[in-house]
Amino acid sequence: MLMKNVVILSALIVLSVSICEAKQPHILLVIADDYGFHDIGYHGSEIRTPNLDNLAYSGVRLENYYVQPICSPTRTQLLSGRYQIHTGLQHGIIWAAQPYGLPLDSPTIADKLREAGYATHAVGKWHAGFYTHAHMPTRRGFDTFFGYLTGSEGYYNHYRCHAKMCGTDFMENTTPTNNYNGSYSTHLFANRVIDIINNHTDDKPLFLYVSFQAVHTPVEVPQSYEEPYWYIKDKLRRTYAGMVSCMDEAVGNITMAMKQRRLWDNTLMIFTTDNGGSVTEGGNNFPLRGSKGSMWEGGMHAVGFIHSKLLSDNVIGSVSTGLIHVTDWFPTLVKLAGGNLQGTKPLDGFDQWSSINNGDKSPRTELLHNIDPHYAKHGRPALNGTFSTSIRAALRMGDWKIITGDPGDGSWTPRPPCSKTPISIKERHPRHTHLKNLWLFNITQDPNENNDLSEQEPAIVKTMLDRLQYYDSTAVPCLYPENDPLADPARHGGFWGPWQ
Ligand SMILES: *[C@@H]1O[C@H](CO)[C@@H](O)[C@H](O)[C@H]1NC(C)=O
Ligand SMILES: *[C@@H]1O[C@H](CO)[C@@H](O)[C@H](O)[C@H]1NC(C)=O
Ligand SMILES: *[C@@H]1O[C@H](CO)[C@@H](O)[C@H](O)[C@H]1NC(C)=O
Ligand SMILES: *[C@@H]1O[C@H](CO)[C@@H](O)[C@H](O)[C@H]1NC(C)=O
Ligand SMILES: *[C@@H]1O[C@H](CO)[C@@H](O)[C@H](O)[C@H]1NC(C)=O
Repeated sequence: MLMKNVVILSALIVLSVSICEAKQPHILLVIADDYGFHDIGYHGSEIRTPNLDNLAYSGVRLENYYVQPICSPTRTQLLSGRYQIHTGLQHGIIWAAQPYGLPLDSPTIADKLREAGYATHAVGKWHAGFYTHAHMPTRRGFDTFFGYLTGSEGYYNHYRCHAKMCGTDFMENTTPTNNYNGSYSTHLFANRVIDIINNHTDDKPLFLYVSFQAVHTPVEVPQSYEEPYWYIKDKLRRTYAGMVSCMDEAVGNITMAMKQRRLWDNTLMIFTTDNGGSVTEGGNNFPLRGSKGSMWEGGMHAVGFIHSKLLSDNVIGSVSTGLIHVTDWFPTLVKLAGGNLQGTKPLDGFDQWSSINNGDKSPRTELLHNIDPHYAKHGRPALNGTFSTSIRAALRMGDWKIITGDPGDGSWTPRPPCSKTPISIKERHPRHTHLKNLWLFNITQDPNENNDLSEQEPAIVKTMLDRLQYYDSTAVPCLYPENDPLADPARHGGFWGPWQ
């Protein structure tokens, strides 16, 4: 009798485990770098992105979707589910020789998915810190890593100089290598992902973190991708367009491989940029205001969509207008994967699955874009006894967005016409000549930030400054160490890598 029960019980366990595993979707998370709002086909771009468009049109396009205005902050928020003010990464990016990174007390999304039984692979750009071995991707939840650690480098030579320190930045897991010198990174990364897919034989669900170098500077692409854009006279824009096309092709190849391996029907794909386009480097965010690195919408109102056969029929092909932020992927994906959030620090993300999959109201009503205590103070505080408007910050509450301090260049840059370089429509309050440091917009009504309401709506301004004050009281000290000369690749065989 006892024996029989044990048999039944273990049969039940096997059954429930296998049901549970069958339900765990493969997750393909594709991150483009510095990819502008206007640079995807379905936003009316002149750049052709047929693969991305098809996936987006047969998925859910996220049109009220936000990331951070620069690389490391978006990537570390994606990995940790936590705001910059809660990880110490509220200022700037992590430069190659700075000894810091995403603090080790924040488990990553890969840690949590691995814990839930996933095989986890990171391919491409890391940029979440690497000064100690413990900060390397393979110690942050990824079974394998193939890519580079810093923010940018040559697409072919994988070589990077910073502060007069130069070296190759390319790793297979934890081994630096020059073996890929001469190969264009978009091809390298797509091919590696395809190898991983083809090699994947066990029953584990896959988590593929595919972080393209494209389309960050330097603006480089094999000639053949640029040729279809011969009619774009602006050289930067033309090459950038080719880089986008190559990335689009890479996504097509990866999805094809997943289909061939019969993984696709149980895959959830997310596509996101890490920040807005850099308008001086070929990218474009029109009609949004501003560029990469600014607190304007052009810096952070992001291109993003989700595609999956697992989405419910009634949302396929739709546009989601719920407020979604890059920190939301952490709880959303861990929950879908059947994982748990135990052991994480308090998360700033929200589970968005019902808003994406059922069109329910987004659980997110507020979004702290950032508070950067390290950025140069600008102008005098508008009000006493609340958050100082001299400090660079931005906050969204419902329809409202407040910006304080120096938000960066607020010009609108229409896309380069075919004949000449882009014309910039200059901001009305050039930041270096005026000390204006307060703006308020109804983003729902005015997504392009034309109509500053800060003078008409003093009560809203006060409420939002008080809220910023509250967020600021929860912030941890800002980490932003000096470059460490010990990072110099000259001391490490010519390679960037952990040095402490
Ligand atoms: C990469 O290849 C180029 C061209 O062959 C060569 O000039 C360069 O020295 C190589 N870089 C490294 C780090 O080996
Ligand atoms: C795929 O498997 C082959 C053969 O076992 C191996 O040589 C290769 O390194 C594997 N590739 C990846 C990306 O795991
Ligand atoms: C996509 O696959 C085709 C066919 O194998 C190949 O020629 C092309 O280089 C691949 N593109 C990328 C970006 O990897
Ligand atoms: C804030 O307080 C300072 C010092 O008392 C004063 O000079 C300034 O005018 C006050 N600002 C406002 C906006 O009330
Ligand atoms: C913002 O504008 C939208 C669209 O015009 C409007 O429906 C909404 O009431 C406005 N929000 C606020 C808080 O006034």
